[in-house]
Amino acid sequence: MKQLNQNQDQWKTRLGFMLAAMGSAVGLGNIWRFPYVTGELGGATFLIVYLAFVFLIGIPLLLNEFSIGKAGQKDAVGSFQNLAPNTKWHWTGFMGVIGGILILSFYSVVAGWSLFYLYKYLTGAYWSEPDGGYGMVFDEWISNPILPLLWQALFLGVTLFIVIRGVKGGIEKANAFLMPVLAVLMIFMAGYVLTLDGALEGVTFLFQPDWSQLSNPKLYLTALGQAFFSLSIGVSGMLTYASYLKAKDRLPGAAIGVGVMDTVFAVIAGIMIFPAVFSFGLEVNEGPPLVFITLPSIFASMPLGNVVGIIFFVLLTMAALSSAISLLELPVAFFKRTIGMSRKAATYLCTSIIFVLGIASSLGFGIWSGVTIGGQNILGMIDYLTANFVLPFGALLMALFVGWYLNREQAQKNSEIENPLMFNIWYIIIKIIVPVVMIIIVIANIFGYTA
Ligand code: TRP
Repeated sequence: MKQLNQNQDQWKTRLGFMLAAMGSAVGLGNIWRFPYVTGELGGATFLIVYLAFVFLIGIPLLLNEFSIGKAGQKDAVGSFQNLAPNTKWHWTGFMGVIGGILILSFYSVVAGWSLFYLYKYLTGAYWSEPDGGYGMVFDEWISNPILPLLWQALFLGVTLFIVIRGVKGGIEKANAFLMPVLAVLMIFMAGYVLTLDGALEGVTFLFQPDWSQLSNPKLYLTALGQAFFSLSIGVSGMLTYASYLKAKDRLPGAAIGVGVMDTVFAVIAGIMIFPAVFSFGLEVNEGPPLVFITLPSIFASMPLGNVVGIIFFVLLTMAALSSAISLLELPVAFFKRTIGMSRKAATYLCTSIIFVLGIASSLGFGIWSGVTIGGQNILGMIDYLTANFVLPFGALLMALFVGWYLNREQAQKNSEIENPLMFNIWYIIIKIIVPVVMIIIVIANIFGYTA
């Protein structure tokens, strides 16, 4: 195979790449989405299926996505064109670019809420239960037609500010700061929460399975979607990050490191949130508002709750930011190359498109709340469709690409797995197990829903 040109953009160090990829993985998916889907689908049973998917399918697919980007040395579309010229495989990357734009459009709405809550905590406004209660102020806030849009724009502005500075100077530097701070805050929070009365009940919910849920097909699709969403796989965001690696930087360890860290963060978020919910006798299946209504009422009645509240929303906003950076870089890299735009122009263009699309998700909580499908509003719909269909489909295409289009030698070389046994296991997962498992889950869900 011919030697491909090195990408012009590059990470300074492999650690910088690892932190950026962890930053991409750890986000609202771990702290906002994971607890509420776990709460809705029965706690520990969901957790077990989720963990199985992360380790059996998710991490191998993360390595798979890394391998395409590193070998391709270009953005989502260009990497496929490099590795498979004159084929239709680059549509996988194109679908990813669109998927990434859609995800960031609703992601930035929730991140905007988080930023607003941080502001409310810093000014002391939410330290104690406001008039009407946290539920009412949250409903009023998200249904306001203008204010959430301003906070969403502010959040996207910060994201733009970093991405515009480029791979080394912006993304790598920001993550080198955000990730260590995040880790420290998170461990501190979990430790504190576990000292509260009633915490044990929450831990039990998270670790004691209810096997009857295993016959629910929705559990599997949701666990799969959550695994992909949390690991940032399926839309070529991780592919784009890996395309900035130099030849000597090894991939398998990075995939395992990112996968394990992401899972640890999700479990810590669970440990941080469920015990708190139980010790205050609140409901776990609150859905998306869980962290914005349930947690503030917990903070209000907790010793040092104001400090904990500030820390929590700093943490949530920082985690969202490091993920949003990766979601923005994905289309920026694509526009930069295909249209030949400067990074600056591409970043402004992509941020604007994402903001405009995001308006729909935001208004879906207020003046457009009549627009629903199956009881889901606009944000819920985009979230559901991207996580449960676009991501699995994109990841499946990438598995088919490496498993069936490339030959075995290319797959081995690109994966950089040196141990032959380990390579065989990985290759069988990518080539056979991933396609089979995904087809079964999708079919079960189609029948599960119509029956
Ligand atoms: N993984 C991030 C989270 O858990 C979200 C995210 C970032 C993402 N980049 C992505 C999701 C790419 C899917 C695809 O919050």
